Amino acid sequence: MQWSPDGALRIVDQRRLPGEFVERDLRTVAEVAEAIRTLAVRGAPAIGVAAAMGLAAAVWHATRVGAGPALLADVAAVRAFVHGGAAELRAARPTAVNLGWALDRMRDVLDRDPGVGVTPLTAALRAEAEAIRAEDEAMCAAIGAAGRELLRDGMRVLTHCNAGALATAGIGTALAPVYAAVEAGLRIEVFADETRPLLQGSRLTAWELARAGVPVTVITDGMAGSVMAAGKIDLVLVGADRIAANGDSANKIGTYALAVLAKHHRIPFVVVAPSSSIDARAPTGAEIPIEERGADEVTHLAGARVAAAGATVFNPAFDVTPAALISHIVTEAGVLCAPFRFDHAPIALPPA
Ligand code: MRU
Repeated sequence: MQWSPDGALRIVDQRRLPGEFVERDLRTVAEVAEAIRTLAVRGAPAIGVAAAMGLAAAVWHATRVGAGPALLADVAAVRAFVHGGAAELRAARPTAVNLGWALDRMRDVLDRDPGVGVTPLTAALRAEAEAIRAEDEAMCAAIGAAGRELLRDGMRVLTHCNAGALATAGIGTALAPVYAAVEAGLRIEVFADETRPLLQGSRLTAWELARAGVPVTVITDGMAGSVMAAGKIDLVLVGADRIAANGDSANKIGTYALAVLAKHHRIPFVVVAPSSSIDARAPTGAEIPIEERGADEVTHLAGARVAAAGATVFNPAFDVTPAALISHIVTEAGVLCAPFRFDHAPIALPPA
């Protein structure tokens, strides 16, 4: 994610990968919300960064082009625009706490200097969005350095969904230790779950790892158990959309099943996420809202119907892995071992 030359938010449209690499410039809150809802931009840290940069870009454009003199001249209108835009973006996806976390930071900019004018306020919003982007990039690098300690030469890592560079502003979360280890000369092989229904594993994780020269093998989700039983997996690394105070972690649907399988096969199951994914206000995973998405994502594949007409569909986008199944949680602060407690977290948390 970056700024376009005319101040828009530029994203890679992840719906088009791996077939096409298409960039899109977003200038309005509605465009950014639509991109988040439809997974053009996705992954917990990435949607937080996109929401912040997109909101700043929308303010920038609304105060410069097309929105008329009232917004340009009136700081109260800019403030109302930020509140309304943040509410619209926050509602785009419910599970990733990074989205609300980033938007809270943008809203807090409004309170810093109540007397500020339109132009400095617009600049301050852009600066805050840029800081959120830069911090996410730095958190990914720190996560990579910390998580790399769990990897040894020759290890085979299983991952689910995409928690790589495409899902963040940096080198990723779950894939960051892999990139750091490969950079240090270790040979690491990754097994990527296909990740039904939207195939983030086979489309995105496989795309970015292959592009980076990291050996990657795609398996369908149902193959994970037999691949583990065959002794082909040494470690599971997954991301998180929200981690509760007790360590229960929400991630892409299918993650919980992997954790159960990993426990059965005595394979370490590691959740890797920045502290912006920790929600100390959610005591357990039961308090994490789980997004349900449309039936067509399950009944159709690449536009073609693959499920019998007449069947009902249940399509939760995420599941919760209980902390008891998680051996380590890696954040930018380091590698934490179970049991986990994040209400007195050892890392900097956003204010409650
Ligand atoms: O629905 P998605 O593709 O946004 O789901 C993403 C995931 O589940 C990721 O594993 C999670 O957001 C962590 S991304 C660093």
